[in-house]
Amino acid sequence: CSGGGGESQGQGGGDDAIVMGFSQVGAESGWRTANTESIKQAAQDAGIELKFSDAQQQQENQIQAIRNFIQQGVDVIAFSPVVESGWDTVLAEAKSAGIPVVLTDRAVDTDQEDVYETFLGSDFVEEGRKAGRWLVEEYADSDDGVDIVELQGTTGSAPAVDRKEGFTEIISEHDTFEIVASQDGDFTRSGGQEVMQAFLSSHDEIDVLYAHNDDMALGAIESIESAGLEPGEDITVISIDGIKDAFQAMADGKINLVVECNPLIGPQLMDLVEKVHAGEDVEERIKVEEDVYTQDEAEEALPNRKY
Ligand code: AHR
Repeated sequence: CSGGGGESQGQGGGDDAIVMGFSQVGAESGWRTANTESIKQAAQDAGIELKFSDAQQQQENQIQAIRNFIQQGVDVIAFSPVVESGWDTVLAEAKSAGIPVVLTDRAVDTDQEDVYETFLGSDFVEEGRKAGRWLVEEYADSDDGVDIVELQGTTGSAPAVDRKEGFTEIISEHDTFEIVASQDGDFTRSGGQEVMQAFLSSHDEIDVLYAHNDDMALGAIESIESAGLEPGEDITVISIDGIKDAFQAMADGKINLVVECNPLIGPQLMDLVEKVHAGEDVEERIKVEEDVYTQDEAEEALPNRKY
């Protein structure tokens, strides 16, 4: 489905079914694919009619999709904003049309009041802190400086901003750690691969790679190997999400730590949509529960990974 459209899934409920317009970020990562499947399946199970639109990581496509949903008079609009800022106008339009908005996965940055009902998603700052805490512990006995390269997610997106913030907060308490390079890899494998290749050619001593998601870490691993180095050994690799491919890479010794970010939030989202539609009160912020996994746990956890 293309940017501004509204591909109806045609599933769920008869005439009384709640109609939900959902604008997804894109299909940039394994996490995103799992998130989309979870939402589609949960809508079907709940008998909610889903109008699904893929923004291909472009904010203007999301704004167009939301305007289409308003025009079609859907009951509820949900979306995962590609970036944090720039939503005030379209959110005000939804509000004046009387259509409740639910944010999922990523937050928006707005001063306007009451423009969305609730935000269901991970605590990205805490994910960054978890990555930082593990690293500090791991290098506790090292007196040498630790040079870190950072693969950032999409510039201006909540997970990129927050994961950087949380990680920096923790490592900056110790003089040993320094982020020597940091660049946007857009949450994709190809982005991770290209940016890591550039990092490797401009920096002789890289001790740690901190990637804001698994796909970028997996892309970067290819570049590390092409440079004749061993990921997980010569360069400590930390990433976020917990997709199966990353668990496999961890079991193979190529990733050292994965901080989980759970995409399977479809059922919780449908619950919220039903409540919001019924005019019930919902909490303004609902956080998703998540774990941290090290190499020792990877093999055992792998068969149980659901995404
Ligand atoms: O917003 C969640 C992030 O977006 C995931 O960590 C990343 O993989 C995805 O693209």
